[in-house]
Amino acid sequence: MVEVQIIGTGSYLPERVLTNEEISKVVETDDEWIRSRTGIGERRISTGENTSDIAAKAAFAALENADLTPEEIDLIIVATATPDCYTPATACIVQNIIGAKNAVCFDISAACSGFIYGLNIAEQFLRGGSMKNALVIGAETLSKILDWNDRGTCVLFGDGAGAAVVKAGKEKGILANHMGSDGRGSNLLKCNAAPVEINNPILRKEVLGDRVTGSTGYLFMEGKEIFKFAVKVMEETIEKLLEKAKLNIDDIDYIIPHQANLRIIDYTIKKLNIDKEKFYVNLQNYGNTSGGSIPIALDEMNKKGLLRKGQNILMVGFGGGLTWGGTLVKWSK
Ligand code: COA
Repeated sequence: MVEVQIIGTGSYLPERVLTNEEISKVVETDDEWIRSRTGIGERRISTGENTSDIAAKAAFAALENADLTPEEIDLIIVATATPDCYTPATACIVQNIIGAKNAVCFDISAACSGFIYGLNIAEQFLRGGSMKNALVIGAETLSKILDWNDRGTCVLFGDGAGAAVVKAGKEKGILANHMGSDGRGSNLLKCNAAPVEINNPILRKEVLGDRVTGSTGYLFMEGKEIFKFAVKVMEETIEKLLEKAKLNIDDIDYIIPHQANLRIIDYTIKKLNIDKEKFYVNLQNYGNTSGGSIPIALDEMNKKGLLRKGQNILMVGFGGGLTWGGTLVKWSK
């Protein structure tokens, strides 16, 4: 039986810190509101690096931590809602930067659940036996799609990338996974691509007349609806993972939740009556980095020496789509 282990982690955060005070000079908000409603104190913002640049830096760090060369990677998955281009995939650009010439590369679009989706997809390839080592990256430059006039969203998000190297082996690693999607909520958290009717000079006049419509998108969110959805799927996903792995909550050493909002995490802690200390939280420093959030937290924990061989680590996320998912891992490094 093939088992799949996480053997390395890495992350990269742009250097530029953007504080709540600075944002309050752009939109009508203040540090107290942002901290009390979300827990966020500051975030990192790209000053020109694109998603592939920060993804590649996280990838290099993860490879070093895994003690593998880029040539040993068979698969690169980049989870991102903010790719460099419509095409090619950001994963192919990363492949070129890091020199992983033997890898098959593609992106997945699952918003803030993207890293979990990516990990679970990589697991299937590795268990199938056709590949040995995969690099799963969650990377975002959300600052380029934020509406900096919308105080309900621009205070929440940040830029950053995290990566994990996963390997097929004999020792137990990933114990359970769970994923779900509900397209009925696809309008609740979205960012439009280029509008189809604008770009064609032949049909533009015929279809639109003098009407100007659509725009390449900024992120739009129905915050309250997302909040309700988030607390529901956090609870369900944690329970599902425990059930699938035949474990109970006392067997779990750490829970790494998607770093969206402290109130969502606190709600889950209360609802499931879980020890607060089990939850790793770093959103005060980075805000919501979407696909980057869970792997950045995982890498931070790894660097701090919090992760020990044999521990059970539960990762759980949710996001636009709507999508949600989790992975339960026995730490094997
Ligand atoms: N600063 C100050 N006031 C703000 C604000 C800001 N940054 N953003 C919104 N407000 C205002 C609103 O305009 C509203 O004012 P009004 O009552 O005069 O209309 C008031 O605060 C309440 O807004 P509301 O949207 O009801 O706030 P909320 O308590 O629901 O908190 C969120 C808003 C976004 C923090 C909350 O809904 C949330 O966290 N949702 C989940 C978001 C999320 O996690 N998304 C990512 C998913 S991957």
